[in-house]
Amino acid sequence: MTDFKEPITFRRGVTLKNRLLMSPMTTEMSFYNGIVTDNDIRYYENRAAGVGAIITGAMNVAPLGKGWHGAPGIFDDKFIAGLKRLTDAVHAKGAKIFLQLHHAGRMTNSAVLWGAQPLAPSAVAAERPGAEVPRAMTAEEVLDTIEAFKQGAFRAIEAGFDGVELHGANTYLIQQFFSPHSNRRTDEWGGTLEKRYHFIDRLVATVTEAIDQEGPRDFIVGYRFSPEEYETPGIRMDDTEYLIKHLRETTLDYLHLSMNDLRRKSVSDAYQEKPIMAYIHEFIAGKIPLIGVGGIQTTQDVDDTLTNAEMAAVGTSLLIDPNWAEKTLAGKGDMIRTRADLPQEDNVDRDAGGTLWEFVHHMRPDKNY
Ligand SMILES: Cc1cc2nc3c(=O)[nH]c(=O)nc-3n(C[C@H](O)[C@H](O)[C@H](O)COP(=O)(O)O)c2cc1C
Repeated sequence: MTDFKEPITFRRGVTLKNRLLMSPMTTEMSFYNGIVTDNDIRYYENRAAGVGAIITGAMNVAPLGKGWHGAPGIFDDKFIAGLKRLTDAVHAKGAKIFLQLHHAGRMTNSAVLWGAQPLAPSAVAAERPGAEVPRAMTAEEVLDTIEAFKQGAFRAIEAGFDGVELHGANTYLIQQFFSPHSNRRTDEWGGTLEKRYHFIDRLVATVTEAIDQEGPRDFIVGYRFSPEEYETPGIRMDDTEYLIKHLRETTLDYLHLSMNDLRRKSVSDAYQEKPIMAYIHEFIAGKIPLIGVGGIQTTQDVDDTLTNAEMAAVGTSLLIDPNWAEKTLAGKGDMIRTRADLPQEDNVDRDAGGTLWEFVHHMRPDKNY
């Protein structure tokens, strides 16, 4: 098992001082136009001491990629100045910071998009209450979207980030191209499993090649994915095995699993012998480092994660206690503030804006991130 206090160096040169990362967690605190607020900056700065790196919450690469009110954008140069203040604040605390590049696809609505219809691989609504039917992208829009991810990566460089993470998880656009539920296309971008992978293939190649040719040294590219969907048809572990066995042959710097329980088992009968994370780690076969995640609270949870991954991402525990990583590194687990220490829901002071506990609950149940 890897020691979480050990540094790790990625293929493109960035070194993390330890294996603990802050998992991407959007907070809906940016201005209406996608520019980050001082609250966004303080939120990350307060959690930066201790962790090897922060992965930001999702930032949309195109105006129609916006997933919710208060989302930060990365589709225009106007965002760079605010984001530079964010990266400076985090670097001053000794952590690296990666920007999560995002497009919501059909997982948004026309209210968030100022009246526009959401854009997706196919005109198929998500299976959730109130979901709108999106418009299917034209072939030109597919290519424009790949270009938008690339431009987002270059703005991240300008803004002082150490890397980008392609948000291929949690049912958003990149995953929508891979999913047989949301991708019913019959052109080169859909149909067979190979064609559903085509968008990811082009996206990863476009961004990594552009960074290698025109970007600086020491700027990394990671990829986040969800292993399974619950819809039928939907992504199952067989599809994910295909995905990972192709992604492991790319020059990505890391892969990042998205899951809410590090010990979770698959919904497929054929994959019941061990947790999903163990299967994923096997599929990768040591070719690219993996970030594991899902309900990490204790040092034991970190150690368990690192039996099947090279790094551990921590979300909710860092929301509840911004000093979680420092306390964990110092062996002071007993001083960590936990869910049990938070006020119960019936103690919530709504006039004062609610408690952190309410915030966590408000953010989680109806959204996929
Ligand atoms: C408030 C909140 C916001 C989140 N936002 C994102 C996001 O923007 N991008 C993403 O990939 N995952 C997002 N997630 C998922 C987390 O990164 C993480 O995978 C998940 O919460 C499980 O880890 P945890 O149990 O340590 O919180 C979010 C989770 C929470 C609780």
